[in-house]
Amino acid sequence: MPDLTTKMGKLTLRNPVILASGTVGYGTEYGKLIDLSLVGAIVTKTITPDPREGNRPPRLRETPGGLLNSIGLENVGLERFLKEKLPGTAQLPTKLIASVAGSDAGEFARLASAVGERDEVSAVELNISCPNVKRARRPLWADPDAVGKVVSAARAATQSTLIVKLSPNVADALSVAEAAKEAGADALVVANTLTGMRIDLDSKAPALGNIFGGLSGKALLPVNLALTWQIAGAVQLPIIGSGGIATADDALEYILAGASAFQVGTALFKDPGVAALIVHGIEERMIREEWNEMAAYVGAARKEREPCLTTEAD
Ligand SMILES: Cc1cc2nc3c(=O)[nH]c(=O)nc-3n(C[C@H](O)[C@H](O)[C@H](O)COP(=O)(O)O)c2cc1C
Repeated sequence: MPDLTTKMGKLTLRNPVILASGTVGYGTEYGKLIDLSLVGAIVTKTITPDPREGNRPPRLRETPGGLLNSIGLENVGLERFLKEKLPGTAQLPTKLIASVAGSDAGEFARLASAVGERDEVSAVELNISCPNVKRARRPLWADPDAVGKVVSAARAATQSTLIVKLSPNVADALSVAEAAKEAGADALVVANTLTGMRIDLDSKAPALGNIFGGLSGKALLPVNLALTWQIAGAVQLPIIGSGGIATADDALEYILAGASAFQVGTALFKDPGVAALIVHGIEERMIREEWNEMAAYVGAARKEREPCLTTEAD
């Protein structure tokens, strides 16, 4: 069998398949549906200092090629997560990445310390990119200086592997990625959802209670794949690709672009077993093409190409 082991900083995963934040709850719900020993890791729903009820409904809307969500970080808050959720989640047969979001650097540091110093948690994912939370005109995810401050504060607060989840809703993703690296990030998730909306013709009102939502699923794949290619060519950090992955071939596109691992989210809603199919599909292709190690696949499509830092299409 090919070796699918994936290393990112101090984090070693049995394979590069990670179940994305917000699509598997706190893991225990999902552990009843599939054998989690088949995946490399799961990411918890993003945890905030205090419990959040999330945005007003409707909060989900299908759109051709994707899904719009405006959940708004509904979660039980830090205290209840540590007391009520973590003990069960820690029993699951896979690695656990805790996703956190604060409203300033101090809150990010407090959250990173509280979850990152727990033995049950293998890495901390800083969600700097949720599009469903109201913020100032220039949101955190688009401001390299603010991202640098948040990541530095979290870095000082925990020894754990720090993963920073970027947003595709930016004009200059490279500056944000570089700021995260300089401040001590160990890996980057590229990327979260893209802001979108629909309007209901009967009610003549926005389809989502929050007006805007985050677009995930198939339609997002080419966008986040292009970002992965750009960032992998310019920033020396392991990348976790995310956006629209539903098959082994989708996932391998991200790996060939330079990602070391990838996350699967929306596709789990259609078929909770898709993660196992993806692992199997990757193994099959690697055997067929006589690749022995996942690591050799990383960035293989970049060979003999100049790093392309522009997004101009013509
Ligand atoms: C219903 C839903 C809830 C989500 N909640 C979170 C969240 O709490 N934190 C986060 O970082 N990302 C969240 N995401 C984004 C996913 O983790 C993922 O980055 C995104 O959906 C793109 O991947 P996909 O196309 O495979 O779903 C959520 C996505 C969906 C569809």
